[in-house]
Amino acid sequence: MEHDAKTTVLIASVGRYEGQEVAVCGWVMHKRSSGRVRFLVIRDGTGVIQATLVKGETPDNVFDEYAKLSQESSVAIFGQVRKEPRATGGYELLASGIKIFQVAAPFPITPKEHGVGFLMDRRHLWLRSSRQWAILRIRHAVIRAARRFFDDRGFSLLDAPILTPSSCEGTTTLFETDYFGEHRAYLSQSGQLYMEAGAMALGRVYCCGPTFRAEKSKTRRHLAEFWMIEPEVAFADLDTVMDLAEALVCAVVSEVLEQRGPELDVLERDRRKLEAIRPPFPRISYDDALRRVRQAGEEISWGQDLGGGHETIISGQFDKPVLIHRYPIGAKAFYMKSDPQRPEVALCVDMLAPEGYGEIIGGGQREDDVRRLKEKIQEAGLPLKDFQWYVELRQYGSVPHAGFGLGIERTVAWICGIDHVRETIAFPRLLDRLYP
Ligand code: 4AD
Ligand code: MG
Repeated sequence: MEHDAKTTVLIASVGRYEGQEVAVCGWVMHKRSSGRVRFLVIRDGTGVIQATLVKGETPDNVFDEYAKLSQESSVAIFGQVRKEPRATGGYELLASGIKIFQVAAPFPITPKEHGVGFLMDRRHLWLRSSRQWAILRIRHAVIRAARRFFDDRGFSLLDAPILTPSSCEGTTTLFETDYFGEHRAYLSQSGQLYMEAGAMALGRVYCCGPTFRAEKSKTRRHLAEFWMIEPEVAFADLDTVMDLAEALVCAVVSEVLEQRGPELDVLERDRRKLEAIRPPFPRISYDDALRRVRQAGEEISWGQDLGGGHETIISGQFDKPVLIHRYPIGAKAFYMKSDPQRPEVALCVDMLAPEGYGEIIGGGQREDDVRRLKEKIQEAGLPLKDFQWYVELRQYGSVPHAGFGLGIERTVAWICGIDHVRETIAFPRLLDRLYP
């Protein structure tokens, strides 16, 4: 934007203009004064900078404009960029002019404490706080790093449909909708089945998009709408995907450490915890996990899926993510392949994040035998005709194949060190939250 022929710069790159006159466009976070000096702290989404006004040096009309400004007023500030080690970001603007776009009405979110319900109702405004800024920037880095990881390894991006005719992860958590008055459609729980078709066409594929679960769970780990990145690989087995999942999580964490330092600082995240995320990750069997849960004094019978409390016990024993493989077949979805050495367990894997964040990845090797797959669909009580296309994938050059899904929000919650997934997505959809 043109402002009296001054260059408009982003706060993140203001350091390149030291000594020069520039314009910065943004919103007022707060004002403060100390003796002859007035400070105006501005954010533009790329960073935060303070503008300084000095009595006797700064023109009087600039002070007049300053006096009008309320929190979240939108402005352009003109001034010289100066090094100021004491200021956030290391630079300040010596203000020589202020252009007001709008003086904001009293902003409902002030620096004092607010309840979560109050903030959630104002999520559209809450996004402007430093904490939300930091989380959403880290979320972007996580998605970008994960996608790049697959792009660099010969995977093709294949977008999965969101409206689907049938269930992927079980019928109890489906959101149903009318489809042109003739059929019912469901919001996709996972792109996996379509990725399997894609893997047979393109070899290695992944999707990254929203998925839906109509779960009535009100926990800090569950959203009704969440994002998943799901790779699927032809000619692959359980070990292939365990290796892939481990390498993916390491790549994502190291990219966040490299590129999102200031954001981790805003969240006061202990970086040493993230720096410890290096291969190899511990890999234990479900049976071993069960022993650990029992040793911790919890009762659990063989065959039961691990609950949140069990996961916390296990992940608390390691400072890295832990891979748990070979769950009982009955505890997992119909598409899992049985272990030929031990048919009662599935060739599947869950990855639990450290620090009690729970499961961030679920996946494994898929049933590739036509007859067994049909039986499994029927045993799960699912209508075979809905899965005709999926069964056909096993009739035309079936191959061992495997994949997994990484939940973006749980991964972001863990990396950020925050206690609830509701802050890891811009507009969370929860059991009791559809607005804004
Ligand atoms: O373990 P899930 O249900 O696995 C699948 O959907 C497979 N079809 C994926 C695949 O193999 N392609 O979900 C995978 C991950 C979980 O580990 C968790 O991180 C996340 O998705 N997730 C949720 N995140 C937030 N809210 C929910 N309700 C979630 N359900 C699963
Ligand atoms: Mg799972």
